[in-house]
Amino acid sequence: MPVPLDYTRRTLDDIRAGSPEHVETLFTDLRADFDAAAAAVDTAGAWKSLRDAWLGRKSGILSAITDNWLKPAPPELKRAVGAALNQIKAHVEAVIEERRLAVEASADQLALAAERTDLSLPGVARPIGTRHILRQTMDDFERIFLSLGYSVAQGPEIETPYYNFEALNIPETHPARDTMDTFYLDLPPGALTQYLLRTHTSPVQVRTMEKQQPPVRIIVPGKVYRRDNPDSTHSYMFHQVEGLAVDTDITFCEFKGTIEYFIREFFGPKVKTRFRPSYFPFTEPSAEVDASCIFCDGAGCRICKYSGWIELFGSGMVDPAVYGFVNYDAKKLCGFAFGLGVDRFAMLKYGIDDIQLFFQNDVRFLRQFS
Ligand code: PHE
Repeated sequence: MPVPLDYTRRTLDDIRAGSPEHVETLFTDLRADFDAAAAAVDTAGAWKSLRDAWLGRKSGILSAITDNWLKPAPPELKRAVGAALNQIKAHVEAVIEERRLAVEASADQLALAAERTDLSLPGVARPIGTRHILRQTMDDFERIFLSLGYSVAQGPEIETPYYNFEALNIPETHPARDTMDTFYLDLPPGALTQYLLRTHTSPVQVRTMEKQQPPVRIIVPGKVYRRDNPDSTHSYMFHQVEGLAVDTDITFCEFKGTIEYFIREFFGPKVKTRFRPSYFPFTEPSAEVDASCIFCDGAGCRICKYSGWIELFGSGMVDPAVYGFVNYDAKKLCGFAFGLGVDRFAMLKYGIDDIQLFFQNDVRFLRQFS
């Protein structure tokens, strides 16, 4: 800290030579020096330097003045110097205390300002994802069938040939096995059971009937796998929803009525349904369900190949042979089953022309279905 006044012997000589008025001027200048230094103090460090410079016992300015001005002052000036020194001492002490409080308060203010949270700032908007369009489609199926009293069942994606084929009346040599090109898992050395990735959700029919006595009304949404080459309508993993109803009094009529209701709920009230004879080893009779073309209302267009109809899924009355595998009484029970491709339904409903889009997870695609 610079000390502009010379508080040394030369100043004492000044005092000696001067009058009480001169003493007063000296002390006025001293006070102005101090006030300027004190006003500049704005941090705890500067405050400490100020205190040490002015009040330090050994080398402080006020000690120097006591030693150099007061003690050697001639008797006629001693009183004036002493009084002025007392005044400035009181002033310095008071101001230094005052500055201490001010510096501490502003430090607190700074700390508070730094910690301050502006509650009026808008929050950080985090992007929210949407349910995948396939999930939305499956939710739709669940909503419709839950309203008909069905419940949702699930089963493993890694299956045994027994559940995927045999118990569904597809024996080893049956040609139907060829139509579902299957992923088999590598057999660990010494393993007795062959595992595969299920090619349809139908094995969950068998698993459910093994555990549960009729009446059974379930739908089974889930992933299925086939060794198909990927293109715009094929994927080696896709989604099915299986349906199964078994009870003592189920008729072909209930079967048709349920399917028709479901198709109208899903595609809209104008859509007509058609049942075409078909074949599945686990249903008899079997039917392929068609809907009137949702793109041209049945008038005929490129998408329905000018037939007015679009093929939707396979279904049928449960083949009594299947009941034999789950110890159901085939003479007393009756039921129907169906298995539909979720991906295909979503493509038809939302006009999507490439199944691969579902699995590429391009947000520009996914966002269109939020
Ligand atoms: N599981 C058959 C398939 O994937 C569909 C189906 C299910 C047909 C139930 C009839 C009854 O092709």
